[in-house]
Amino acid sequence: MRTRAPAVASLLVIASLGLSSCADLGGLDLESVGDEGKTTYIKLALNQAETHPSYIALENLSSRFEEATDGRWKIEVFPNEQLGSQQEVLQFVKSGAIEMAIVSGTQLENMNKDFQVLNMPTTFSSIDHQMTVIRDQDLMEPLFQSLAESDNISVIGGFTQGTRNLYTTDGAVVTPADLSGKKVRVQESAMHIRMIELMGGSATPLSYGEVYTAMQSGVLDGAENNEVSYVTQNHHEVAPFHSNTEHLVGLDYMVMRHDLLEAMEATDRELFLEEWDAAMIEHTGLWNTQTEAAFERAEAAGVEFVQVDEQAFAEALAPLRDEFLTSDFQRDLFEAVRAADTGEETP
Ligand code: GCU
Repeated sequence: MRTRAPAVASLLVIASLGLSSCADLGGLDLESVGDEGKTTYIKLALNQAETHPSYIALENLSSRFEEATDGRWKIEVFPNEQLGSQQEVLQFVKSGAIEMAIVSGTQLENMNKDFQVLNMPTTFSSIDHQMTVIRDQDLMEPLFQSLAESDNISVIGGFTQGTRNLYTTDGAVVTPADLSGKKVRVQESAMHIRMIELMGGSATPLSYGEVYTAMQSGVLDGAENNEVSYVTQNHHEVAPFHSNTEHLVGLDYMVMRHDLLEAMEATDRELFLEEWDAAMIEHTGLWNTQTEAAFERAEAAGVEFVQVDEQAFAEALAPLRDEFLTSDFQRDLFEAVRAADTGEETP
């Protein structure tokens, strides 16, 4: 049931695309991108399966952009970690070996701690709140452009990861005490390691594609993710106890080579950003539908849905904010994001 190509294989894919992973700008001649009479191919790395809302929204974005430019641009989406784990592909975008990737906020935290603000329990109260914030270019610009000069990475927006919950291989978790001694997979982030510790567990950072096997073999006792990932990665097969901790509304980002964005003709860039905005909207719709379907599929497969002690988890997580919001910029951004919450809940 593994869907991930191992890192070695990802390097082979990169090699077979005619790219050397470092320094080489992926064969793209920035002087002539988008020119008439040829097709400029853009490689976009994704760690999700073809049934996931992100893949579907990106494929549709690709078709629309290709059509709108009469075939001058073609975005090729590589799913299932074919080009590498998120940690790896972020470096490939930075070096210019590939052009775009969808990466979790946890990956960007490792380049700029300010991304922690949007990746923290309590920042977003709903998917609607989150997407309103993410599509607010003025509010997001300082953060989204913070890696442009240093790392050649432009963040152009994001896809929701929905609400993340905890799930375990053996026994229901109702309170933080129930997680004691349990090894729980987290994304590669200092803040998320601390998050699981505060929730009572022992945190093990690991890349996404390794989680199924690690839970199946007993190396891990559980993980935390949204329901779409829970079923598209088949985690429900090996971790059938699902606790509704709802500890985080997570966020993925679209990252892109900054020099490529700059090299695009202004009209192509505008068109691309418009279509990308439409992709964010489409993705949110798909997300809501697929989350419902994922719950149904998990239920039909015999998953036990456990009602947790919400207050106990909220109290356990309370110290996280002060521990990780340490600068004025981070605290101000947090307040601005909270102020943008209209209180509307995603149905
Ligand atoms: C979600 C998210 C991914 C992330 C994954 C994870 O599926 O959309 O970007 O990699 O969680 O837990 O690693």
